[in-house]
Amino acid sequence: MQYTANSLEKQWMPFTANRDFKKDPRLVVRGEGIYYWDHKGGKILDGSSGLFCAAAGHCRPEIAEAVHKQLQENDFAPPFQMGHPGAFELAEKIARLTPDGIDHVFFTNSGSEAIDTALKIAMAYHRARGEGQRTRFVSRERAYHGVNIGGMSLSGMVKNREAFSGFMPGIVHMRHTWLEENRFAKGQPEHGAHLAEDLQRAAETYGGSTIAACFVEPIAGSTGVLVPPVGYLERLREICDAHGILLVFDEVICSFGRTGKAFAAQAFGVVPDIITMAKALTNGAVPMAAVAVQDEIYETVVGASPENAIEMFHGYTYSGHPVACAAGLATLDIYEKENLFERAAELSPYFLDQMHSLRDLGVVTDIRGYGLIAGFDVAAGDAPGQRGTQLQKDLFWSGLHVKFTGDTGIVAPPFIAEKEHIDQIIGLIREKLAEF
Ligand SMILES: Cc1ncc(COP(=O)(O)O)c(C=O)c1O
Repeated sequence: MQYTANSLEKQWMPFTANRDFKKDPRLVVRGEGIYYWDHKGGKILDGSSGLFCAAAGHCRPEIAEAVHKQLQENDFAPPFQMGHPGAFELAEKIARLTPDGIDHVFFTNSGSEAIDTALKIAMAYHRARGEGQRTRFVSRERAYHGVNIGGMSLSGMVKNREAFSGFMPGIVHMRHTWLEENRFAKGQPEHGAHLAEDLQRAAETYGGSTIAACFVEPIAGSTGVLVPPVGYLERLREICDAHGILLVFDEVICSFGRTGKAFAAQAFGVVPDIITMAKALTNGAVPMAAVAVQDEIYETVVGASPENAIEMFHGYTYSGHPVACAAGLATLDIYEKENLFERAAELSPYFLDQMHSLRDLGVVTDIRGYGLIAGFDVAAGDAPGQRGTQLQKDLFWSGLHVKFTGDTGIVAPPFIAEKEHIDQIIGLIREKLAEF
């Protein structure tokens, strides 16, 4: 496969060291199953499901065929004051997977849009029930809730914030849940439920009745896989209930089986009021995300307007795009037919054991994981993040894709992975880390 090196300049690449990349590009030109192929013909095991998207493996013919058919039949239908059958069907299918009572689904095109939509739904809901004074939001340090102004304001990763201004006002950050004493914990760490009291403190400092919603990723993903401590999410739920605060689970990464259940809400046994989801919704094949809300939220917002009036002035040209819906329906079909969430749950103990086997390497300072997602921290080199960046490149050229955030590698294989793929992933990581 050929490419023209001097054609790379015009794209301003997202979250990328553009100048460095363009000197030594890593182009993915093909995908199939659990593998990618690069532009030099190298075969690369996908250890992070792309970016936590391709749970069913790449280039599934069922999805390609559904998309092709949809494009020939109905390529675009305006989503405002009109509709098309696929969006209703997909909403219905998603509602069958979400926890009981979270049965209304609003479509967006990215996780970032889902987060900003969830913020606006929370505002609209409180206003509709006469509590428009709830204007504050609580989130967490080290959180990643996307890159739009709302999500960036909620987020707690410094590099994603420091160059920008124009944050939403009234955001309070709780502490993150990484604790020294939990290093190398398998599954949910024992210590840290007390960190949920930060929400209680926010309620006591600002007044619980001024807080609209608390946003958390059940497992903080992009920051390096922070699994919720035992009792932590339960305590957040109790505090939210005590103060009338909505609990939002940002499941952009966790949703659709990553935890071994459809949603992390089910894996951890804590039901939020709103769930955001994306990525594996279409297996990554077509951009799509969604916000699922408790029925009471939908009914309150919708019920507050006259019968023939638009109830919420929000939506995207591509909300519930027919092609994305076709991809989503085909994807959910694959998950169901191949029992992929159960498969993820079955593979999880082996995967986590293998990940933890890296502990003997001196350079590895922590390993965490749950379901089919795990993070490993590597001691920083000359500057923070430098080693992680180099490792990501070296691993790629050795035949493994792993997403890095700073000096943390995030491994999240497709659910179709076999044990031998896990062994290969671990073997390649071990080989590279042994060089330090
Ligand atoms: C938890 C979480 N929320 C939101 C987002 C933003 O999603 P997107 O990149 O689709 O805008 C991400 C992306 O990784 C995420 O992990």
